[in-house]
Amino acid sequence: MIKVGIIGLGAIGQRLIPLFSNHPETKIVAICDTLQERVQEISRQIDSVKTYSNHNEMLEKTDLDLVYVTVPPKYHHAVVSDVIAKGINVLCEKPLANSSEEALSLYSQVKEKGILNAMNFPLNYNAGSKSFAALIKAGYVGKLRRIELKMHFPNWPRLWQQNDWVATKEQGGYVLEVGVHYIQQIQKIFGGMKVISKNVQYPADPIASENGIIALLELEDGTPILFDGLSQIAGEEEIKFTAFGTEGTLSLVNWANIEGGKIGQPIQSIETNESLEDSLIDNLVRALKGEEATIIDFYEGYKAQMVLEALRG
Ligand SMILES: NC(=O)c1ccc[n+]([C@@H]2O[C@H](COP(=O)([O-])OP(=O)(O)OC[C@H]3O[C@@H](n4cnc5c(N)ncnc54)[C@H](O)[C@@H]3O)[C@@H](O)[C@H]2O)c1
Repeated sequence: MIKVGIIGLGAIGQRLIPLFSNHPETKIVAICDTLQERVQEISRQIDSVKTYSNHNEMLEKTDLDLVYVTVPPKYHHAVVSDVIAKGINVLCEKPLANSSEEALSLYSQVKEKGILNAMNFPLNYNAGSKSFAALIKAGYVGKLRRIELKMHFPNWPRLWQQNDWVATKEQGGYVLEVGVHYIQQIQKIFGGMKVISKNVQYPADPIASENGIIALLELEDGTPILFDGLSQIAGEEEIKFTAFGTEGTLSLVNWANIEGGKIGQPIQSIETNESLEDSLIDNLVRALKGEEATIIDFYEGYKAQMVLEALRG
């Protein structure tokens, strides 16, 4: 049984608790959050779990095989560095850190220790996004002409993620929170990219995160990538990741759905291949057993962080 510790029990930390608890090969043995009441409340859902409000005390006193760090981005570097120093395998939430420098430091530390280092980028496990990647690989769009990422939010922060950091310039905003998932996907499916130009808009509040971005990026072969982000607008939330090619157009819509068409044909919804559905926890278990697994490691997190920094800086 793989003994798991969790640091950070907010919206996302709580999401993964049932997945670790229900997996036959993982057991959550310790949880930690600086909010003591939260730790106590969550501990009622997990059998004989140890509770902590200081992560170093948890790392000191508990025998752990894997630690999942899901604190706000500003604290990733400090907390993950403490986990690495103990030589414990680590799963970190995205983004890897709050700057390229911090991300590089985390990557260098795990490389030196030789521990499993993984990030939670769910698009690498979902049927919709995996079907999108498989169709691209199979040549659905032909030769790629352009990539577009549309991120439109009636409200930022979204209603399910209300906290004191996600709408701050310091460690929030949707370029960082949402854009990073697609930056990682572009790097995985299409290769590296660089930022050519950007126009980022901010509201009057000096600490608030962006409320608009238009950015032009390029793949290594010069193929253009357009980021179009806008919040505090009418209508529905829409996150649309589109590849335009010489033979067709293909989009991943709102994380999970695919639509597309061949040149001259209308855009239609396309069925996802459910057999591609995978699970982060299954892959972590396989990796810890030395088996082949899909793991998005800290190097990929670092590469995505460099693009984020160029967009946000
Ligand atoms: N993978 C995804 O799809 C996805 C989606 C949204 C957010 N995230 C990421 O997940 C992380 C957490 O986001 P969230 O929405 O759950 O935030 P949150 O603010 O709801 O929760 C963070 C929790 O960490 C606790 N905390 C802060 N510092 C701590 C410390 N030093 N030790 C222990 N606990 C500490 C806070 O008290 C809080 O309970 C962020 O990095 C965010 O970017 C990932």
